[in-house]
Amino acid sequence: MTANKKQPPLAPGFPVLGNVLDLAKDTRAFLTAKYLELGPIYRVRALNQEFVVLAGTEANLFMTREGTNYFRSYEFWHGMDDELGAARSMISMDGPEHIRFRKVQQKGYGRTVIWQHIPEVIAITQNEMQQWPINEPLPGLYSLQRIITEQLGILAAGYSPREYLDDMIKFVRTALLTRVTKQRPDILRYTPSYRRARSRALELATNVHAVHQSETANEREPDLIDQVMQLAQEDSDFLPESDLMPAILGPFIAGLDTVASTCAFLLYILLTKPDILAMVQQEADALFRKGTPTPQDLRQMDITHRVIQETLRMYPIAPALQRTVTQDFEFAGYQVKAGDTVIIATTVPHYLPELYPDPERFDIERYTETRKEHKQPGAFAPFGLGAHTCLGAGWAEVQIMMTILTIVHSVDLVMDPPDYQLKIDPAPTPSPDKGFKIKLTGWRQPNATPDASGAQGQPNLK
Ligand code: HEM
Repeated sequence: MTANKKQPPLAPGFPVLGNVLDLAKDTRAFLTAKYLELGPIYRVRALNQEFVVLAGTEANLFMTREGTNYFRSYEFWHGMDDELGAARSMISMDGPEHIRFRKVQQKGYGRTVIWQHIPEVIAITQNEMQQWPINEPLPGLYSLQRIITEQLGILAAGYSPREYLDDMIKFVRTALLTRVTKQRPDILRYTPSYRRARSRALELATNVHAVHQSETANEREPDLIDQVMQLAQEDSDFLPESDLMPAILGPFIAGLDTVASTCAFLLYILLTKPDILAMVQQEADALFRKGTPTPQDLRQMDITHRVIQETLRMYPIAPALQRTVTQDFEFAGYQVKAGDTVIIATTVPHYLPELYPDPERFDIERYTETRKEHKQPGAFAPFGLGAHTCLGAGWAEVQIMMTILTIVHSVDLVMDPPDYQLKIDPAPTPSPDKGFKIKLTGWRQPNATPDASGAQGQPNLK
């Protein structure tokens, strides 16, 4: 079939603003609605920019098979590098250089690293919960960001980000909003509070670098930071010191708007669906009864795994990917030109009823051997697709699982107010809004309860 010489259909929008409001409000829902109306390729406008959207399973399969031939990541991501004084980073690299850098970081972000540290993952979760007061509302997302970022910092970079957490949140969110997703005006980067947060993020990176240069660094297993620093030492043309910052801060950024938000959505589900909470809790109690969980034990967590899959389907934190077209290609009968900016609407299939019947329903039966709805080609892409597919996907799944299992095994939680209805804050990535608050009502495990002297117990790992 020859390509249609006409441009792909344009989604109707407001003058000047175009579709910016709909895109900002709920990217996935808007891109899905337009896919159903206009087909697998269409154009949207946001202020003075135009994007070609590729959507549906056909777009996901194209991204997987052909993405490296036609798309470049640099333009979308390089604002973040710039913000850190670097010329480039793994996520803004393309082609063979990206492959080389990704290989170096593969082991440090691998599932095996977190598997080897399951007791620490539990202990960090437990220690954090022990600071939660009884019967007082706590911010849901922030409470999880504290746990997740501490786990990632300690495990992947050997450094606690505790004192830097608030600054990191401010820095990452503002930099993403102004320089990557461009959902907010650039002026936000010039406020004193942002300038301070950015300096603190750079200070954290300098500290992590210094710790990895010290002599004691030789006395332990090399981690992600050692591997990246070694590359910089061996080939400074490829990775000059000035480009180290994004890689060193990677572990401190990776979980903030991803794992933490997913855990917050998951907790919301558990606290509003007692039948699902009971099943996950039963799995958790059986797991901890056996002793310290092993990777083999985690593979048996069938219900929890399916709850995680369904949370990733319904609440994907990366609804779409943005890329620049490197050479002309044809898609669904239309020509897409080199230089165009495309949105690959990777999670549009997550809500298509022909793939997931009754898609608005939280249904963990979708992932059973008989149904396997997510295994349909192009149907499930919470971790992105193509060359930059999430390098920490395996890590993230273990981290979400262990954190949630530890929480539901150890404590009783409720929402505050109990009838809170989920509202999604869409920027920079979707998360439950600030109204999502949790309240600790008691400890489930007697030996995890703070004792009379105020000393804290440990989770029941017998
Ligand atoms: C629920 C959790 C997570 C989700 C949904 C998620 C999603 C994504 C997505 C969609 C991308 C691709 C972005 C693009 O192509 O533009 C990505 C890339 C990446 N993610 Fe994740 N992520 C998660 C957790 C993590 C964690 C825990 C780590 C580290 C341990 C991690 C490390 C990375 C890295 C290093 C990349 C860049 C890969 C590359 O450029 O080749 N992610 N992630």
